[in-house]
Amino acid sequence: MWQFKLILVCGFLLATSPKKTLALCSNYTELLTNIFALLGQSATYQTPVNNSEFYTGYNKTEKAIDFGKFDYIIVGCGTAGGVLANRLTANKSISVLCIEAGEAAPALTAIIGLSTLYFTTPYNWGYNTTSQTNACLACKNQQCPYPRGKVEGGSSTINAGSSTINAGIYTRGNKEDYNHWASLGNAGWTYDELLPYFKKSEAAQFDVDIEPQYHGFEGPQAIDVAEDTPELTQFFIDANNELGAIERDYNGNSQYGTSRVQAYLNKNVRSGSSQAYIRPAIDRPNFHLQLNCLVTKIIIENSIAVGIEFIWNGKLYFGKAKKEVIVSAGAVNTPQLLMLSGIGPKEQLRKLGIKPIAFLPVGQYLQDHPFFPGMVFRTNRVYYNTSFQQQVNDYCENKRPFTAGFGTQCISYISLENNTNGRPDIELLTFGPPAMSPTWGGVLQYDEKYSAAFQILNPATDFMNCLLLLNPKSRGEVTLSSKDPSIYPEINPKFYSDERDLDVMYGGIERTLLLIDTEAYRQFKAEWLRIPMPGCDGEFVYFTKEWWLCVVKHLSVPGLHPIGTTRMGKSPDISVVDHELKVHGICGLRVVDASIMPTHISGHPNAAVVMIAEKASAFIIMDNKNNRPDCKK
Ligand SMILES: Cc1cc2nc3c(=O)[nH]c(=O)nc-3n(C[C@H](O)[C@H](O)[C@H](O)COP(=O)(O)OP(=O)(O)OC[C@H]3O[C@@H](n4cnc5c(N)ncnc54)[C@H](O)[C@@H]3O)c2cc1C
Ligand SMILES: *[C@@H]1O[C@H](CO)[C@@H](O)[C@H](O)[C@H]1NC(C)=O
Ligand SMILES: *[C@@H]1O[C@H](CO)[C@@H](O)[C@H](O)[C@H]1NC(C)=O
Ligand SMILES: *[C@@H]1O[C@H](CO)[C@@H](O)[C@H](O)[C@H]1NC(C)=O
Ligand SMILES: *[C@@H]1O[C@H](CO)[C@@H](O)[C@H](O)[C@H]1NC(C)=O
Ligand SMILES: *[C@@H]1O[C@H](CO)[C@@H](O)[C@H](O)[C@H]1NC(C)=O
Ligand SMILES: *[C@@H]1O[C@H](CO)[C@@H](O)[C@H](O)[C@H]1NC(C)=O
Ligand SMILES: *[C@@H]1O[C@H](CO)[C@@H](O)[C@H](O)[C@H]1NC(C)=O
Repeated sequence: MWQFKLILVCGFLLATSPKKTLALCSNYTELLTNIFALLGQSATYQTPVNNSEFYTGYNKTEKAIDFGKFDYIIVGCGTAGGVLANRLTANKSISVLCIEAGEAAPALTAIIGLSTLYFTTPYNWGYNTTSQTNACLACKNQQCPYPRGKVEGGSSTINAGSSTINAGIYTRGNKEDYNHWASLGNAGWTYDELLPYFKKSEAAQFDVDIEPQYHGFEGPQAIDVAEDTPELTQFFIDANNELGAIERDYNGNSQYGTSRVQAYLNKNVRSGSSQAYIRPAIDRPNFHLQLNCLVTKIIIENSIAVGIEFIWNGKLYFGKAKKEVIVSAGAVNTPQLLMLSGIGPKEQLRKLGIKPIAFLPVGQYLQDHPFFPGMVFRTNRVYYNTSFQQQVNDYCENKRPFTAGFGTQCISYISLENNTNGRPDIELLTFGPPAMSPTWGGVLQYDEKYSAAFQILNPATDFMNCLLLLNPKSRGEVTLSSKDPSIYPEINPKFYSDERDLDVMYGGIERTLLLIDTEAYRQFKAEWLRIPMPGCDGEFVYFTKEWWLCVVKHLSVPGLHPIGTTRMGKSPDISVVDHELKVHGICGLRVVDASIMPTHISGHPNAAVVMIAEKASAFIIMDNKNNRPDCKK
């Protein structure tokens, strides 16, 4: 009986409010059944530890099968690859093969807020970092999980789901991030030159605090602000305001201040690359989306990229590109594939016995944002203390908690005093109820002793101030441990290996603690909640800098924002692609994804990746019109 009533609620809203449509909600019973089924599958699902699944039945001695010829082959139909596929196939005379290791994006990935639940899915490659010395100490073997999307739409499809900690957040970073790229010799990459591409992708649907001259309204990708948690969202904004972080649009003229979270949301449905770019183009006859294939090699003849090899259902295939091969496999798999194909650092290729094609610093200059989720507070009020069924029903009315990943409430960008480059060093991201639950340590996959510390969290009353270190000085790397494509690459972010990064993180902690004395916190009786911290309590005096640094090293995990592994620049000594994203010295080969960013941006990178792909599409379309590249195939 109650189910019948809930269906009516959703139906009623569908009919009356254009802001509250969601295809999934048209059959509430089915929606709920699907969510429970997903959670059930997840309970027994084993994340792979290598790519052997692609090779089942593979016979090494069989010849590769011809898969055909296309104008362009895009490797990875993820965040960037999806944008490219859409823009290039808009011209009916251009044929595109977009080849993807994962499967089609399932309907439930549209619910950003499902990230609040811990679950594992096949849509994640399932990497771990190597053992870290200054971070991930609370994880088994000091290795953090390093989820990457393995599904149509890539990480933009999961950047809130499947055992992850993020939230479909739309941030562009700071203007000076891009001006810095340009100052490194990358013509055409100043913020002013990039703003049209940011706008081109965007369909802003919110009006709170918006500075409209900085936003797009006609693009494919919807951006919205989830409905407030009554009173609470405003409380967070007020508290930050009191510390001088004034309320404003962080994607507008100035980034400094506090904002509600702008997210990849179309009403209550995720608007990632799958929903915004791939699905709308999928029926074009010149768009060939090929799923479940592992690309193992770029075929390069006489310094010209002519095609790819891939494994599909245990069989080896090759496909030819008449014009270009574009690698969009993300900041971990792109360097892996280039190295497997003979493009990489000399010592690594030599060590593994890979036939060298070009010596370039592939996999080097990895940067990621360390994320510190360790500052918990308790209010004296109760939020979302409702049943799961009720929360799903509220979702169908476009209400939290499931409309916001991890209960994200607001973001502040902060510049600590030592900063001189105009960019903030710290992002403060507030996760509200009910995300802060006893399972939090399990969500982050901390080792038992540390996950147990979070048992005291109360999902109805607690919230967390999380810190993201925006412009880390530490540099890591992605390397190969084998020339076998079925073996995972090694990811070593080397978090806090430059100790100045620890100082900045500590500066962020001191700044966050000032919130406790604000009028707003007092009004909400928001109090610091002490979490037992094995390995630090007893070792150091509670609340001293030494204790904090110990906690930071234990609880810091990857922000999951890897960039730089095929960075853009002029010199082949310190970069892999030029300012048009062409691989130095190779004809007909570009990289278009997060790996090309030469230095990190001051925010979550998805918007920058989409912008990069929009700009790259314009390069490629221009070269196509002018009959370039002029390498003869
Ligand atoms: C859990 C998580 C949460 C995040 N949260 C946010 C957020 O809230 N806001 C934000 O701005 N950013 C967020 N990010 C970061 C953001 O999602 C990424 O920066 C962005 O999606 C990267 O895009 P990409 O195109 O470079 O790579 P991806 O989107 O990862 O695409 C790469 C694609 O290539 C495919 N592929 C790789 N290798 C092969 C191969 N050999 N053969 C065939 N296919 C292959 C992959 O399966 C994948 O689909 C998050 C990331 C993760 C993982
Ligand atoms: C809703 O979905 C269920 C299960 O798929 C199905 O049995 C039922 O008929 C559907 N109801 C409506 C109104 O479509
Ligand atoms: C990652 O670490 C987890 C926890 O230790 C482990 O279960 C998993 O097998 C590891 N995965 C890989 C690819 O090493
Ligand atoms: C690859 O993974 C499979 C299980 O998924 C395992 O049986 C096999 O031993 C692994 N191979 C290597 C080389 O790790
Ligand atoms: C593998 O392929 C070769 C060549 O086609 C064939 O002779 C051989 O029987 C195959 N082996 C198996 C195990 O199928
Ligand atoms: C939430 O509701 C349950 C049952 O209604 C109740 O026992 C519990 O105390 C509530 N939690 C809070 C924090 O009020
Ligand atoms: C700022 O600089 C001073 C002096 O070099 C140093 O002691 C302090 O730790 C720095 N603070 C931050 C947050 O980096
Ligand atoms: C479309 O593609 C064709 C074939 O490559 C090309 O000749 C033409 O100039 C393209 N049109 C546009 C508008 O780019």
